[in-house]
Amino acid sequence: MTYSLAVLSSLLIPYAHSAPLAAAEPCTKEFLTSTANTYINSQRLGNTSSLPSIQASNFIYEENNVVKAIGSSSSLLTTALQIAHNRTIIDTTACATYTEIISTSPSPGHVVATQIRFSDNDGTLRPTLVDSIVTTQGDWLFNATKSLAIVQAEDWSPIPSTRSALLTAIDAYLDLWGNPSAPVPWGVPCRRMEGSAYTGSGLPTDSCNIGIPGGSQPPVTNRRYVVDEEAGSANVLCDFGAMRSGAPDSHEIRLEGGKLRFVHTLTVMRTGG
Ligand SMILES: *[C@@H]1O[C@H](CO)[C@@H](O)[C@H](O)[C@H]1NC(C)=O
Ligand SMILES: *[C@@H]1O[C@H](CO)[C@@H](O)[C@H](O)[C@H]1NC(C)=O
Ligand SMILES: *[C@@H]1O[C@H](CO)[C@@H](O)[C@H](O)[C@H]1NC(C)=O
Repeated sequence: MTYSLAVLSSLLIPYAHSAPLAAAEPCTKEFLTSTANTYINSQRLGNTSSLPSIQASNFIYEENNVVKAIGSSSSLLTTALQIAHNRTIIDTTACATYTEIISTSPSPGHVVATQIRFSDNDGTLRPTLVDSIVTTQGDWLFNATKSLAIVQAEDWSPIPSTRSALLTAIDAYLDLWGNPSAPVPWGVPCRRMEGSAYTGSGLPTDSCNIGIPGGSQPPVTNRRYVVDEEAGSANVLCDFGAMRSGAPDSHEIRLEGGKLRFVHTLTVMRTGG
């Protein structure tokens, strides 16, 4: 027997409107913000028991690109940190968050870049991946006290952009390694924080198109994206081979008027952890 399209539609529509078994919860800004705050509080306590992550059957925790148990003694989440700075961006399209954390205590401090990704688990949205780049003493230009002073003086209040502008800009910036003529939308003023080093001096003429390597460089690979069009910011966690093979790395950009205003970079130089 064959059905006309109209008959098929009348058969299918009731299912589309009743609650299907795998109904995805909407991935809202409020939900993402609240889970990111739960993550921050777990890090503050050094206790993951309130993170809903453990309940997702396929949950993965990655620290510096290495999979480990989130509750293990080598996981940063089992160390209580005083949190001097946090800032989260929200990606409702990818259903993901990115959080920047700076802690100066316990010494020598930590600067952490964490993406959380969610998917539907039997009708409930749960984190399936907590993906953290954790820097501390020994990492590229690390000094949490200096990083804290820098970020506290910057203005990251929301400045809307478009998803394509943010993706194009952050990809062009990362493409500089391997392609020095990548079309980066450089802005003026613009400042880059790398570890705790800061380009420019706070003048309206500051450019951040300085000290960018030319020539042949290992490309930036394994890029994972979080894009927040309302905030005007995008983050990529990646492997930054120009520093050392497979160096775990985080880059975040802020655009103003479609041009780069700030870049934050963390690169893990320690090996084996
Ligand atoms: C994040 O920092 C803000 C201040 O910028 C603070 O009000 C908020 O409580 C912090 N969030 C968490 C979860 O600690
Ligand atoms: C973590 O928090 C839970 C819930 O508050 C508590 O029962 C547990 O004892 C805490 N674990 C540690 C190691 O503090
Ligand atoms: C980090 O920077 C602060 C402020 O400039 C400085 O006082 C401190 O000695 C630095 N720490 C290290 C380990 O270099």
